[in-house]
Amino acid sequence: MRLLPPESWTFLLILAIVNAMGCIQSIRCKPKSFRESIAVLEVNSTIDPNPTSIDESSGVVLRYRTPHFRASARVLVPPIAAKETWTVGWIQACNHMEFYNKYGSTGMSSWELPDLRDGKMQAISDSDGVNYPWYGNTTETCTIVGPTKKDTKFTVRMNDNFYPSVTWGVPVSDSNLPQLTSIRRDQSFITWLVAINQASGETVVLQTIKWRMQLHIEIDPGKPLGQRAKLLEPTAQEQPQVLARNEPIPPNAMVKPNANDAQGSCREFLEDCARLP
Ligand SMILES: *[C@@H]1O[C@H](CO)[C@@H](O)[C@H](O)[C@H]1NC(C)=O
Ligand SMILES: *[C@@H]1O[C@H](CO)[C@@H](O)[C@H](O)[C@H]1NC(C)=O
Repeated sequence: MRLLPPESWTFLLILAIVNAMGCIQSIRCKPKSFRESIAVLEVNSTIDPNPTSIDESSGVVLRYRTPHFRASARVLVPPIAAKETWTVGWIQACNHMEFYNKYGSTGMSSWELPDLRDGKMQAISDSDGVNYPWYGNTTETCTIVGPTKKDTKFTVRMNDNFYPSVTWGVPVSDSNLPQLTSIRRDQSFITWLVAINQASGETVVLQTIKWRMQLHIEIDPGKPLGQRAKLLEPTAQEQPQVLARNEPIPPNAMVKPNANDAQGSCREFLEDCARLP
């Protein structure tokens, strides 16, 4: 066996170093993946400071309108080399729900998501059932079709509030007699800013926001219209929290329905509650 002369060792060593530098070089030059390069430049989230407003102008229903939750984010997508389509936008799920309209001693109506209540699901999609998993398809999302040569910057926004009508009289009864005595709600939501690759379904969570809406209205149905309802605490809502660490999206938040699908998920159980004292 022929031993290499000492100079050869040096030569080999230099080769090895060059090789190592080459690797470093190639790692640095490799185009970053979409996941690594998409950036959230700014995110804002608030609940408007106004209290819930109550409208007693109808003799059939009480209407209330809660302040708006709002979220907006400015996003930068660097050039995409591949022929890929990505949608960036907001996805929202409800992860806690208490919702009772009480009719004195006659009973109450409640809107429930049984799987949430029973802990079978962590969160249920709050999309409108058409645009799911997205919360909406106007300002809520932006779609980038690759390849693109330049940075793409855009803002995606969403807002949400409750604006329901509650009958003064007991629902599913023939009586129009005003009997509504209180409305209570306590709902929590998780709102994610997400990028999804339309072909592969690859999902990148960019931001996670948690928020809550609480409401308590007390009503004296014996009083004349316009003087019945009184908003109790809280008159101002807790502000949303933009989390420092993202939370994963539970699978149920990505599939159809849905807290806004009143027909599908609303359970009126007046019969049960008719037994209340
Ligand atoms: C966030 O809020 C600030 C202050 O109101 C505003 O100047 C900025 O444009 C907002 N950014 C986004 C992404 O909405
Ligand atoms: C949003 O969705 C609705 C319902 O599917 C559709 O009619 C409308 O064209 C969509 N708008 C956009 C901007 O994609």
